[in-house]
Amino acid sequence: MNFSIKHIALAMATVITLTACGGDKTTNTEAPAQTDGVKARQNIMQDWRGANDIMKGMLENPNNFDSATFKEQAEFIQKSIAEAWGHFNDANAKGKSQDAVWSDAQGFQAKKDAFDTAVAELVTVAGTAKTADDVAGAFGKMAESCGSCHKVYKQ
Ligand code: HEC
Repeated sequence: MNFSIKHIALAMATVITLTACGGDKTTNTEAPAQTDGVKARQNIMQDWRGANDIMKGMLENPNNFDSATFKEQAEFIQKSIAEAWGHFNDANAKGKSQDAVWSDAQGFQAKKDAFDTAVAELVTVAGTAKTADDVAGAFGKMAESCGSCHKVYKQ
């Protein structure tokens, strides 16, 4: 009798513990992953805007064109592209993205590919540019690519 009461109590305690653990596990694995991914990609996008503005500034004031700085900014964007796209994996982490990022994954991929190509071209052109004029076309294509993706996939 004593044994079986103890046994039941132990069994119940185990159930309670498991339930509590299960609850904890859900919050621990899902919540931080969402916020981290959203914040991380927003931070990279902000950095891209910073790089974009530096390059744009040189195009607006061609006398300030500095090929090394310009190229550095283009390369900075290129180096962080893979990381940025990697932070869009979780369909539950919407942030300020449209549902279409996940519901129209093919379309989003096409925008990513177009951007990757535009940035690669900009890096190449920046490598030999002497004047702002030399990079204007490639820069315009890249900047257009930012806007073209935002129009459909950003809130
Ligand atoms: C393939 C699509 C795509 C491309 C290309 C892209 N972005 Fe974005 N961008 C997004 C999405 C989606 C969001 C919304 C992110 C979120 O909050 O979930 C965003 C958000 C942003 C934000 C707001 C970040 C914040 O703090 O909320 C800025 C700034 C930004 N992008 C700048 C740029 C610039 C500059 C470029 C080009 C150099 C660029 N983006 C290229 C899809 C893109």
